[in-house]
Amino acid sequence: MKKWTAMLLFGVMLTVAGCSSGSSGAGGGNSGGSGNEPNIGVAIYKFDDTFMTGVRNSITEAAKGKAKVDIVDSQNSQPTQNDKIDLFITKKVDALVVNPVDRTAAGVIIDKAKAADIPVVFLNREPLPEDMKKWDKVYYVGAKAEESGTISGQLLVDYWKANPDADKNKDGVLQYVMLKGEPGHQDAELRTKYSVQALEDAGIKVEKVAEDTGMWDRVKGQEKMAAFLAAHGDKIEAVLANNDDMALGAIEALKASGYFTGDKKMPVVGVDATAPALQALKDGTMLGTVLNDAKNQGKAALGLAAVLAKGEVPNKDNSGYDLTDGKFVWIPYKKITKDNIDDAQ
Ligand code: GAL
Ligand code: CA
Repeated sequence: MKKWTAMLLFGVMLTVAGCSSGSSGAGGGNSGGSGNEPNIGVAIYKFDDTFMTGVRNSITEAAKGKAKVDIVDSQNSQPTQNDKIDLFITKKVDALVVNPVDRTAAGVIIDKAKAADIPVVFLNREPLPEDMKKWDKVYYVGAKAEESGTISGQLLVDYWKANPDADKNKDGVLQYVMLKGEPGHQDAELRTKYSVQALEDAGIKVEKVAEDTGMWDRVKGQEKMAAFLAAHGDKIEAVLANNDDMALGAIEALKASGYFTGDKKMPVVGVDATAPALQALKDGTMLGTVLNDAKNQGKAALGLAAVLAKGEVPNKDNSGYDLTDGKFVWIPYKKITKDNIDDAQ
């Protein structure tokens, strides 16, 4: 027992020595894990999500010298997330950042946080409007899902207009399949709706050949696309996917059916602009994607939480981001093709 205590003490001394030598001369205040940094509890819906991993890394990066963050995996289970949030509240964190598993659960989370007077910044999954109104210390950082839907539709409009042979059966109608994200998620519902809307607004007649959810997942995207090909084969003239992982899965299924060699083409559109998607743009298998700015979403969420943790009200000056209605930070999307890959890196 005594030996352990001694070792622990020694460890603490080493850490203290390491810190003070690292930050001496820097005037104190930043880095070095000083006790003044606020504690921020971050709950992500699941770690095994490509886009949210980007956001997570951005939060860690943005926290350096600003806050002590504890980022936890809710493992795609709302009850698990609720438990983790209870634990953060027991530990008396100074602010919470929550990427809900189920966005309709935000109300319960807000009630708990309000009772403990801990401000909450929601991220990526938008709480319902009535929940956002429950308390003034509730914020949301995200992107306008409609915008990404419109941009992905426009990518296909450009392709259709530039490539007359895209209309494989020459009926003047664009036959497409839709790989949808998680049903009920604002990004899945609105990207689906607005991508088709953009095609129609451009005067293109469309026919939905098939639609199914791939739950944002690459393997599921591949399985669903393989099923679409088995059922409809050559009838399919385009693939719209609500995110890049599903689009990449679809590309795998298409490759297995002989696409992307010779003159067997298929326009495939995704959203997120993840690293493997940018590679697919370079390879010529993915037609286009939409930058979902993980870096700024993570930075803005952490920034707001750090301001709130100090008991201040976030504004453009102290957070670096414009706030809409005093509560929402909207990070813009951007159209990405092989011609402007650098904009996404
Ligand atoms: C979306 C993103 C998806 C997935 C989802 C998780 O914004 O495009 O790839 O990460 O969020 O909520
Ligand atoms: Ca056609």
